[in-house]
Amino acid sequence: MVLVESPAKVILFGEHAVVYGYRAISMAIDLKTTCTVEESDTTIINLKDLKKRLEIPIEEILNLDVNEYGDFKYVLCAIKNTLLYLSSHKNLDLRDLRSFKLTLTSQIPISCGLGSSASATISTIRGISKFYGSYLNDDEVAKIGFGVEKEVQGKASATDTATITYKGLLEIERNNIKRIKGELKEFIKSCKFLICYCEERKKKTSELVNEVAKHKNKDEIFRKIGNIVEKSKITFNKNEFGKLMNMNHNLLKELGVSTLKLDEVVEIGKIYGYGAKLTGAGGGGCVIILVDEGKEDDLINELKERDVEYFECRMVY
Ligand code: PMV
Repeated sequence: MVLVESPAKVILFGEHAVVYGYRAISMAIDLKTTCTVEESDTTIINLKDLKKRLEIPIEEILNLDVNEYGDFKYVLCAIKNTLLYLSSHKNLDLRDLRSFKLTLTSQIPISCGLGSSASATISTIRGISKFYGSYLNDDEVAKIGFGVEKEVQGKASATDTATITYKGLLEIERNNIKRIKGELKEFIKSCKFLICYCEERKKKTSELVNEVAKHKNKDEIFRKIGNIVEKSKITFNKNEFGKLMNMNHNLLKELGVSTLKLDEVVEIGKIYGYGAKLTGAGGGGCVIILVDEGKEDDLINELKERDVEYFECRMVY
């Protein structure tokens, strides 16, 4: 049996401004999706968390319109595109495909900016290529993964699939992705974060991006966010780093993408942690808090009292 795992992602700084050419920083975190692939008489896809199961002839996957398959669309598209890639680049014979049972389980909450679908996609690509005995390097995996997101969503940014494939810390400039190494990476390795799932997202990323586009002060706000991103790259002190997170949050609030609940949790993160901000497109979803280990118990108590679901995490690299 093949077993592979992929992380989740968060945007540390620069969401929304990145759409306008400024840089953003994303990070892979240790919430994971696990994919197993094993021999089976028929091809079965098992989405354990959703309690959904699909049985489908393997040949059909190669020709289907993935968007007709609801919750299975990312996985089916990832299987299809991986098989096609292996046949054109790695000598896989599509007339001779073995059936398999593919099972996905995940710790990542869905639809809240943590990259749950990209993590399922990347796990599937890695699982299927391994099952058929082929090695794909990270560049190949990221490329197939980005193709899957574009095919399923119509339009996509490479942030999620790249961060989940390469892990660690990445700098994103439009669809140019660069790995961050050196002092910043070492500093982030020493940081503990809490991801707080505050509330369901009320709007899609594309809707929030469109609303921000109409904001009259957006250019000035983006410039300020851009400056924060540049400062964050040379700030290796938790106090200062936390302050930059707070400043980035305030600017996202000014853009109108925060909510009362997100602001409430950010306030808790400011008082009991080094700093906090919403992460991702906003309109609900998650807040990331930089933990001050000296005040961690108070932070956890406060979150529990307000019924906020949280996950401890660190960067994976
Ligand atoms: O919450 P997410 O993972 O969908 O992040 C969206 C980030 C934006 O900057 C708002 C959009 C983008 O494509 O970069």
